[in-house]
Amino acid sequence: MRFIHFETIDSTNTWLKNSWEDQPDMTFVSADYQSQGRGRRQRSWTSPKGESLMFSLLIRDEQLLKRHQLVSLVSALSIVRLLQQRGVSDVTVKWPNDVYAGGRKICGILLEGVSQPELQCLIVGIGLNVNQQAFAGEYRHEPVSLYQLTGRRSDISRLRQQAYQLLTEELEKLKADEDFRKVLQSHDYLKGRRVLAEIGQETREVSVIGINPDGSLRIRADGRETDITSGEISFRV
Ligand code: BTN
Repeated sequence: MRFIHFETIDSTNTWLKNSWEDQPDMTFVSADYQSQGRGRRQRSWTSPKGESLMFSLLIRDEQLLKRHQLVSLVSALSIVRLLQQRGVSDVTVKWPNDVYAGGRKICGILLEGVSQPELQCLIVGIGLNVNQQAFAGEYRHEPVSLYQLTGRRSDISRLRQQAYQLLTEELEKLKADEDFRKVLQSHDYLKGRRVLAEIGQETREVSVIGINPDGSLRIRADGRETDITSGEISFRV
């Protein structure tokens, strides 16, 4: 493991993507501010300096690379535990990799892989809203921060240590082939909901049956049940 912290960086994910070959397994890169933070689906991820927890973890371990489909969900579960330890209730995972608290997004995860052509490494990038008192910009659904939920500001460096600890614990369980079925099902935000799914260029209403043990999602669309993997779809609730 290796810890690298930047006051300012373009993006911790981008930094690891460019230098993963020189870094050991479990290199943890964090920043107080990202000038070009990235989210899923080519979106940007912005946060004022020191208001959120932002880090990326490099995974080179072969066992985890084989289970890559579960890595982002299990990482999300580590954030669920972190928030629960901070007294937050009603914390769920919105498949494939957002964490919701009280029905609002509090954390996003960007999982990226480097392939040559076999998968060489994974980069798990996590952004957790911590001390924001309000969110600038327009949102279809306004996100939420730990501060808004607890009324207390948090020490980001302590939170960072706790996040690293819990994330490595969950990944060790995944390496040991622990069954995450129960915990995933009990924190499944989309389960049982009818949602709008963007599949390629199309938007369709589908019913979500729930997360499968292998990390895929079972949905019912047009009367037929299908399992989908995270690259294929995004959901609007
Ligand atoms: C999303 O919800 O779309 C995912 C957001 C992921 C943001 C984190 S912040 C740390 C890491 N570096 C990045 O550029 N992105 C991820």
